[in-house]
Amino acid sequence: FAVLLVMLLSYFFGCFNGSFMVSHFIIRDDVRKHGSGNAGLTNFYRTYGAKYALLVIACDMGKTVAACLLGSFFFRCLGWDGTLGTLLAGLGCELGHIFPVFYGLRGGKGILSGGTLVLLLNWRVAAVAWALFLLLWLTTRYVSLASITATCSAPITVYFVYGHNWLYTGLCLAVAALVVWCHRENIQRLLHGTEKKFKWHVNPTE
Ligand code: G3P
Repeated sequence: FAVLLVMLLSYFFGCFNGSFMVSHFIIRDDVRKHGSGNAGLTNFYRTYGAKYALLVIACDMGKTVAACLLGSFFFRCLGWDGTLGTLLAGLGCELGHIFPVFYGLRGGKGILSGGTLVLLLNWRVAAVAWALFLLLWLTTRYVSLASITATCSAPITVYFVYGHNWLYTGLCLAVAALVVWCHRENIQRLLHGTEKKFKWHVNPTE
């Protein structure tokens, strides 16, 4: 029951999708009508530029922090493993972010939420994932390639950092598989050489 409660609560937190909410409530638009159609920071920046991007980051990182801290706290209160609570809450939050029940199950791809989850989980797992992300993003300018690579690194580093803990690794693998699956169209575009590169200078539609 506790597991279900943590998953449900964190799913609810995850539904607060920053890109969708800022585009809907502040810009009076729907970010999903533009660019890649994704309700994520990359597509938000691509569509509207830097204005309000910090708000999107604050929302997506904030909700993940809230959900994971709550999950960890709840598990610790029960005398259970706090790290397991963090991981389960992270998975729930990703599900809410990607499949938000409040806006037609069409959310983002879970990169910012996943990046926040690893920051809360373990500094070594986070350092590898964020270093890979920054390296690939800045050298290739493909956010998707950087995101996929960083995501795939997490279950591997979790496996070694936590002494071959299969439960942690399995949960991390579930999050990673979900995120990579969300990038299936990006993978096709990368293979065909049609993926859009990140540009600092964009022409906001507003
Ligand atoms: O944040 C998701 C990123 O990896 C790709 O986004 O909009 O280019 O599909 P997008």
